[in-house]
Order: sequence, then structure tokens, then C-alpha cells
Amino acid sequence: MAKYKITLLPGDGIGKDVMDAAEIILDKIGLDAEYIMGDIGWEFWISEGNPLPERTLEMLKGCDCALFGAITSKPKEEAEKELNDDLAHKGYVYSSPIVKLRKEFDLYSNIRPCRAFPGNPLNYRDDIDIVIFRENTEGLYCGVEFSPLPLELSETLMRYSPNMRKFSNTALDEIAVSCRIFTRNGCRRIVKSAFEYAKQNRYKSVTVVEKPNVIRETSGMMIKEAREIAQDFYPDVELWEANVDAMAMWLIKNPQDYGVLATSNMFGDIISDLCAQLVGGLGFASSGNIGDKFAVFEPTHGSAPKYAGKYKVNPIAMLLSVKLMLEFLGETEWAKKLENAIAAVIKEGKVKTYDMRGNNTTIEVSKAISNFL
Ligand code: NAI
Ligand code: MG
Repeated sequence: MAKYKITLLPGDGIGKDVMDAAEIILDKIGLDAEYIMGDIGWEFWISEGNPLPERTLEMLKGCDCALFGAITSKPKEEAEKELNDDLAHKGYVYSSPIVKLRKEFDLYSNIRPCRAFPGNPLNYRDDIDIVIFRENTEGLYCGVEFSPLPLELSETLMRYSPNMRKFSNTALDEIAVSCRIFTRNGCRRIVKSAFEYAKQNRYKSVTVVEKPNVIRETSGMMIKEAREIAQDFYPDVELWEANVDAMAMWLIKNPQDYGVLATSNMFGDIISDLCAQLVGGLGFASSGNIGDKFAVFEPTHGSAPKYAGKYKVNPIAMLLSVKLMLEFLGETEWAKKLENAIAAVIKEGKVKTYDMRGNNTTIEVSKAISNFL
């Protein structure tokens, strides 16, 4: 039996292009691994009414981790229109497969490295090396939302929070509520992952990015837990605290000052897009969705339909996700080598895709990186 079992989930659109690029690298590295292909994406929504079929979930349960390309998502009504005729009007509702994977496998840490590779013409600065830890399962994206606000809920809120009085004259169907739910465990485990990473990789600080002066209970809980964890377990890593609004400015002004960031779901979503752009944008933005037992690695870009199958897009975001996967598996030597090979190809500046003002294909870039390996 192979040492690792890994599912490859190309998805659709350029997900397939960049998965082909990843396979070139995986072939080159030649891990003792069994790779299996899993079904996910738009074509399975159209033909089965489920973009993440049950058989794929079962397959994932027997694997060490998965590598995912990208998928197309569309708003509810639009998605329904594209269903095959025999599935139409049968109550199928489109829901995001990646969100489902995060929930199903409790992939609570979303790690997003943003490192500037010297020589990349798209860098904002060459000395940026930020790694974001975004809580991936709760917070404002937990999906507990109401509109109209149910009467019973409104009455309860009025009873418990004086601040609800401001809304007492507003009709219930004129109100929308989205809950921002944090748990102590949720706060602790994301902060702990961030500190552990900082310690292992010799970053001097972890900055917790929240807004406790205004969002007192949730952000307050995150900060309190972070202070405890820093003090109890990580005396050698500095804890910095920043408000998310100020952080948006600091990250533009002095991005080189920051190392590891830890934050909640929505703040992490926003801040990580900002940081990705500082180091070249979507073609360079990798990510890992990591839980205690399983992980899914993916570039943060989507399926970019206009480039699908054209092999024009940059594979580096995907290949950096492969690097994260190698780290997760404990193949740190290969992870380092792959990152060095990517850095070398960027620095050389000869083989590059359109976003880097080149005209090479996805495959050519991947092959150049493979040659350096
Ligand atoms: P997108 O990320 O697919 O593409 C936006 C633009 O960014 C592209 O048109 C292209 O110009 C550029 N781009 C993206 N990846 C690139 C790469 N590797 N190299 C060079 N340039 C690249 O976002 P968009 O257009 O908003 O969404 C398209 C579809 O993807 C939608 O259906 C959306 O719901 C879905 N999506 C899926 C995600 C996922 O699978 N995790 C994440 C984001 C969007
Ligand atoms: Mg995002």
C-alpha cells in the first residue's frame, strides 16, 4: 500500500488547467502516493443536482488530504435554470461544495501565505512575507441569518439587549440579521494554529486582527483567548493586536513589518485578498483548509470561465498549494524544493503567463518549475 492516499479534485473551468499543471509537479516529485480523481463541480450539478456527489465525500474520508482546483458557482435561480431537464423543479438547491467540505471535515484553519518572490514584476514590494490564518467554520459566515426577523426572536433580543431599542419601531420584514457567532474553542484553535506555525517557521510575531473596541463580545473573546495562549504556550512569539480597519492601512503602508496574522472568518477573507494582491494577485494566492484529521489545498482563485481549457492562467497559485500540501504531509524537504524552484523560475523571468506580462502557457510554466526541481 502507498504511504499516502490523495484525492485530486480538478473541478471545472481553469480548475482543470491548473490541476494538469499540478500533476506535472507531482509526477516529478514521485511521492509514495496513490492519487484518485474525485468528481466535483458544475457538470455534476447539471447532471446530478449535486456539485459534490456523496461518492466524492466517501472517497475523501479514506484519504490523507485533497488537492482542489476550482469550481463555478452561480446564484440560486441561475443555477436552477442550468439543471438537466429531468432534474428541473425537483427542489435541488445549489450550495457551494468548498463550503460544504469545510463544514463536513471541520477544516477550521484557512491558511493563506502571501510571500513576494523576488523578481515578480507584480510585487508591491519584494520583502513581503505574510501568512494569514483565517477561522474557517464560524463567525459572520456561520449562516445563521434572518430576514424577516421572526417576532419571537425580536422580542427576545429586545428583552436581552438595550441596543435593540433602536430597532423597536422598524417592521420585522424591514430587518435583516446575520449572526456573528464565535466559540471559545473556535477562537483558541485558530489562534493556536497561527502561533504554532509562527514558532515552527521562526516568525517573530502573530498579529491578531479584530475589532474588540466595537464588536466587544466576539472580537473581545478572540483577543482574550489569544492573550492567554500567547502567555501560556508561546513566550518566544510576540502577540500584536490590531483593529481590522487600521490593519487595512498598515498592510499597505508597511506590509514588510508583519508576519503571521490570525483572524476570524470574514476579516480573514477580506484581509487575505488584500495581501494576495500585494504579492502578485490571484495567480499567486494559495491556500490550505486544514482540520485535525484532514485538509484540502486549493488556489484561492475561481474557475475563470473565459480562460477555461486555454491553458493561459498562472499555475503558481496551484503549485504553491501543492507546496502547502507537501508540508502538511510532512514532506518538508520537497515543500522547500518546490518553493525554491518556483522562486527560481520567477526570478529568471523567462517563462511566465499573461498576468506576469508573458505569453507562456500554464503547462510551460509548470514544466519550467519541474525542470528546476
Ligand atoms: P476568478 O478567480 O475565477 O477569476 C477572476 C479573474 O482573475 C479571471 O478572469 C482572471 O483574469 C484572473 N485570474 C484568476 N485566476 C488566475 C490565474 N491562476 N492566473 C491568472 N489570472 C487569474 O473569479 P470570478 O471570475 O469572480 O469567478 C468565476 C467563477 O469562479 C464564479 O462562478 C465563482 O463563483 C467561482 N469561484 C470559485 C472559487 C473556488 O473554486 N474556490 C473561488 C472564487 C470564485
Ligand atoms: Mg475571498
